[in-house]
Amino acid sequence: MYKLVINPNNQKGHINPELQGHFSEHLGRCIYEGLFVGEDSDIPNTKGMRNDVVEALKEMKIPVLRWPGGCFADEYHWKDGVGPKEKRKKMINTHWGGVVEDNSFGTDEFMELCKQIGCKTYINGNVGSGTVQEMSEWVEYMTMEGVSPMADWRKENGHEDAYTVNYFGVGNENWGCGGNMTPEYYGNLYRRYQTYVRNYNNEKPVFKVCCGANADDFEWTDVVMDTCFKRPTPPNAHGLMDGLSLHYYTVPNTWETKGAATVFNSKDWYNTLKKTLYMEELIRTHTAIMDKYDKKNEIGLIIDEWGTWYDVEPGTNPGFLYQQNTIRDALVAGINLNIFNKHCDRVKMANIAQLVNVLQSVILTDGEKMIKTPTYYVFKMFNCHQGAELLDSHIENEMIGDEDNKVPNLTESVSISEDGTINITINNLSCTDAYDIDGVLVDKNIASVKGEILTGKMDAHNTFENPSVVKTEDFDDVTCKENRISFKIPACSVLHLAVKTV
Ligand code: AHR
Repeated sequence: MYKLVINPNNQKGHINPELQGHFSEHLGRCIYEGLFVGEDSDIPNTKGMRNDVVEALKEMKIPVLRWPGGCFADEYHWKDGVGPKEKRKKMINTHWGGVVEDNSFGTDEFMELCKQIGCKTYINGNVGSGTVQEMSEWVEYMTMEGVSPMADWRKENGHEDAYTVNYFGVGNENWGCGGNMTPEYYGNLYRRYQTYVRNYNNEKPVFKVCCGANADDFEWTDVVMDTCFKRPTPPNAHGLMDGLSLHYYTVPNTWETKGAATVFNSKDWYNTLKKTLYMEELIRTHTAIMDKYDKKNEIGLIIDEWGTWYDVEPGTNPGFLYQQNTIRDALVAGINLNIFNKHCDRVKMANIAQLVNVLQSVILTDGEKMIKTPTYYVFKMFNCHQGAELLDSHIENEMIGDEDNKVPNLTESVSISEDGTINITINNLSCTDAYDIDGVLVDKNIASVKGEILTGKMDAHNTFENPSVVKTEDFDDVTCKENRISFKIPACSVLHLAVKTV
């Protein structure tokens, strides 16, 4: 029996909905086919956006979407992607598969997509190969209400009203595909470029994200914080940065031979989960460095790329990064989302890579067919935490796994929503064992509990032939008495309990 203790008297911080954010890049079949098929397509669409995908994303409650990359962002020239489609420049997507990019999905289409799915916008600017002027004019095109060359151009293109840009990334992975820069060099460029990311609408200021580290590159964080986290003059002017990013992927083996998405054994299972859990150590260490400079915790850690990265599905274009998604991915998502909740004081946004048909996607498409992956169902279960308050909680656990890969058997996070519902999300990391859990709510009696679970064999997954092998099911086997709740959580599962108190 493992004890779970929840103290509703101790609220530990606000969980930004954006912790469950997503990322879409001009990569493989993510944008074209996955999200956008064009108005003339036989696939049902609204202004070119796939209706089935938009519907599924709304149901999942996607809070924010990052675009246009990734590595693609630092080669993207936004002016090529606005105006009459027949006049838009064609280019080669040199990063991803060498295919022709016809720029038919550009800024106005991205804004339309976000409007249809009802989410916030996160635009990633080009520092690697773009100019300050280009970045500055992009922000002007999107957000300027009044008269200006770029606002006028937007209007000429049929978009009278200014858009809202909630988040703006000043470069992507500038230590690598975004220009191979040193932290000193990038830090100074950041200071310069961000100056011209103007706030044309003071009621909706743009949240500026500075490019942060690759995984455990702590020196990058230290140098960039030292260079950029300094107030401009006058001292009460808006700070230079609102967030610093971090990228960390779960790669089971090595970057050369990552491992297959659906064919793996229990050793691979524990190895993958162990590597996922490393996220917590990364957050702690990067946070400690940020704390040195940002003593008042004013800027957010933005984990704008995370998720599993396997070898591509056999027979698919290696440059498209298309991979399947199993119960193992569901656990990776559940573990990470619980970690982000627990660190919501510093982590203000996270974006899984990537939305459709790439890496750890929530949706896969094949022509007119669409399936929801196990990761989709985890995000749907976890949306109960969006905008809630994190509660103090602790679950007893033991270390399990094989000799080389030890992981805790259980991880959890708990929050209280505005209507007083206490939402518990628990992961069982064992691929063989179920566990009895005895939960206690401090000072509160339980009125009712509603449960839902995602579980299955470790490699279970949905296919276009069998789209519903893995999906959430009701979980009713819960006993409640006064302030106690007990249940058995099966192996390989992600569980959500919604508790109403008296
Ligand atoms: O998500 C795929 C790629 O991974 C992104 O383009 C890049 O930022 C990262 O290296």
